[in-house]
Order: sequence, then structure tokens, then C-alpha cells
Amino acid sequence: MAEGKFVVTPWEVRGEVNYDKLVKEFGTEKISEALLKRIQRHTGELHFMLRRKIFFSHRDLNWILDQYEKDNKFFLYTGRGPSGNTTLGHMVPWIFTKWLQEKFDVELYFQITDDEKFLLKPELSLKQTQNFANENILDIIAVGFDPKKTHIFTDTQYAKTLYSTAIKVAKHVTFSTAKAVFGFKNESNIGISFFPAIQAVPCFLPSILKEKNIPCLIPAAIDQDPYWRISRDVAPKLGFYKPAQIHSKFIPGLGPGAKMSASDPKAAIFTTDSPEVVRKKIMNAFTGQQPTAELQRKHGGNPEICSVCQYYYFLFEENDKKVEKIFEEERSGKILAGEHKEDLADKAVKFIEEHQKKRERAKDQIDKFMLKD
Ligand code: TYM
Repeated sequence: MAEGKFVVTPWEVRGEVNYDKLVKEFGTEKISEALLKRIQRHTGELHFMLRRKIFFSHRDLNWILDQYEKDNKFFLYTGRGPSGNTTLGHMVPWIFTKWLQEKFDVELYFQITDDEKFLLKPELSLKQTQNFANENILDIIAVGFDPKKTHIFTDTQYAKTLYSTAIKVAKHVTFSTAKAVFGFKNESNIGISFFPAIQAVPCFLPSILKEKNIPCLIPAAIDQDPYWRISRDVAPKLGFYKPAQIHSKFIPGLGPGAKMSASDPKAAIFTTDSPEVVRKKIMNAFTGQQPTAELQRKHGGNPEICSVCQYYYFLFEENDKKVEKIFEEERSGKILAGEHKEDLADKAVKFIEEHQKKRERAKDQIDKFMLKD
């Protein structure tokens, strides 16, 4: 891959992502200071993921707030493709989604695409993606969503409800559009070429179930955006509002570059990893430092590529001043990233231990959350 080249699709994120370029390429809008102020008027405070522009881009968020201010409340829609255990990467949009649910007091529809991952991954059987779905559901519940306002479903167990809207969507999407948006090839199986219609359905589902048009806001990382381009195109043809989005950046893996992805298990922290494994992974994380401590003290490092700094930034330190201090210490070479690793590992282990307790408790709550045919 040539320098400066990167790829972002729902199924692959590769290279160093240039988010400014991506906003132009995808035709989304950056979140402005004025929009942040507008959000803050409703939420009282700004989540650190907004303050830091981890959630950095959107479509129609002003419109969502217009509607909200006119008492036309939106619902949230997000999801998970169960190709493995949950990583901390997936937790980024979910933690933010929980905050949105709390602050705006809205319903959440959570789709689990066991069909997508079965169709996409030659190595996975349907039974396996369904088993991962069951595991992932525990993580979702453990995030702490409101059981009265949160509806989780897997595609294969909710297919009867989803299917009649999926075919209505599919009828409006030509194969050449799907090919242009998702890069399907002649060798792609025909299941995956239909699948984008299934991921579009929850944008409209609450409107169908409640028999009135309800605005939809999708919090997710920006890799999912191609799906929403299709959904937004079709929405008015079916008489629905276009779904709005708020997009996040990717938390990097523990190795150099790229996003955290379940397909590189050594570079990802899984919510099911034991505390010892989490500690070990962090202690081995890439920091991009100079080859010796002496050189590092002399020349400093680059917090932008140091995964230790990035983990504080994305997840483990809510206090902006503390993050700035950590970045400065790294930049100046005053403190070596290795010295920060111990502290980060303590924070990550605490997070995982608490999450795993909630995950255990989630086992008794599944029925409260699930939609089934
Ligand atoms: P999946 O399982 O690939 O990802 C689940 C969610 O996690 C986000 N994500 C990340 N966010 C930050 N840093 C990372 N390193 C990182 N890796 C993944 C994804 O953007 C996503 O929000 N097709 C979807 C499932 C789905 C869905 C949806 C997702 C169905 N409907 C609606 C979002 C919204 C998928 O495979 O997600």
C-alpha cells in the first residue's frame, strides 16, 4: 500500500486513516463547535468522546435536534457483527450510546448481524456466529443500557419481522449500486449482496412497529457509513425519514497503526480476556519510542502513534487535563511510555474486572432485552 493510502469499509480498515479525507470522501460533516454547544444545551455536559472529537462526524444531527426540540424524539440504533468476542474497540460506540440514551431518555434498537458474519467469513459456521452473538449480548447488557428502553435482536431469530421490510429496501437497490458502495465482486456470494437491506431495516423498524414516523440516530464508528448511504437513499422511497448518524474514529490496536480488530487477537483486548492477559498485552503494547531510554529522554516520543497514550485518550482517562499531561510527558521524553504502562494496565484491569462482573449478572437479564419473532 502506498504511503498515505488507507482503506475504510464495513469489513476492513487498513492503513493510517485520514479522517478529514474520509469526511470528504463519504460526504459527511464534521461536528462543529456550534453543534457541540447545541448538544450541551440538552445534555448539560459533554461526554469526553465528544469533547475530544472521538465522535467527530455526522449526518443530519442538527435535524435530529430540531425534531427533538419539537418533541419529536428520536430513537438510537446501533449494532454488532458477531464474528468473535467483543473487543474494547466495540465498547467505544456502545459506551457513548449509553450516554446518549441516558441524556436524551430515548429507546435503543440493537441489531446483531449473525447472518452478515456467517455470509462474510468463510471460516465461520452459522452455529458459531450465533454462539458469538450470545456472548456479545452479555457485553452489550453489561454496558448498562436501560432494559425498559433497549431492544436487542439477532437477525436469524428476528428474521420474520425483518424480512418483509428488507425486501422492500432491496427492491430499490440495484446490484450496480451495491457493488459500487461495498465493492462486491462476481465471486461474492449472493447472500452478502442482499445483506445491506437487512442492516437498513432497523432504521425504519420502530416507525413500522409504532405506526408513526420516528427519527433515527445511529452512533457507530465511521466504517459502517456505507450502509447508511444506501439506507438514506431508500428511506424517502418507502416514506420514512432518512436515518441520521454520529460517527466515531477507531481506537487503534496495541500494535503499530490500524484499528483494534478481533481479527488480530494479540493486538486487541477482549472483554473476556483474564486480568493477567490484559496486563500482559498492555505491557507489550507498541509505543513507537526511540530505541533507547536515553534517546527517548533526549528526543521525546509521539503520543499520536503511541498506543498507551491512545488508550488513555479513547477510554481510560476522562480527565482532559490528565490526558494532556500524559501526552506532554511522552512528547518531551520526561516520562517513558513504559512507565505509563503500569498505570494504564491497572486502569484496564479494573475496567475488565468490573465489566466481567456485570457480564455475569447479565446472564439473568437477557429476556428483558431480547426481541424475537
Ligand atoms: P462490528 O461488530 O464490526 O462493530 C461493532 C461496532 O463497533 C465499531 N467499531 C469500533 N469502534 C471504535 N474503534 C474500533 N477499533 C472499532 N471497531 C469496530 C463499529 O463501527 C460498530 O459500531 N455490520 C455491523 C453490525 C451492525 C451495526 C448496525 C453497527 C448492524 N447494525 C448499526 C453499527 C450500527 C458490524 O459488523 O459491526
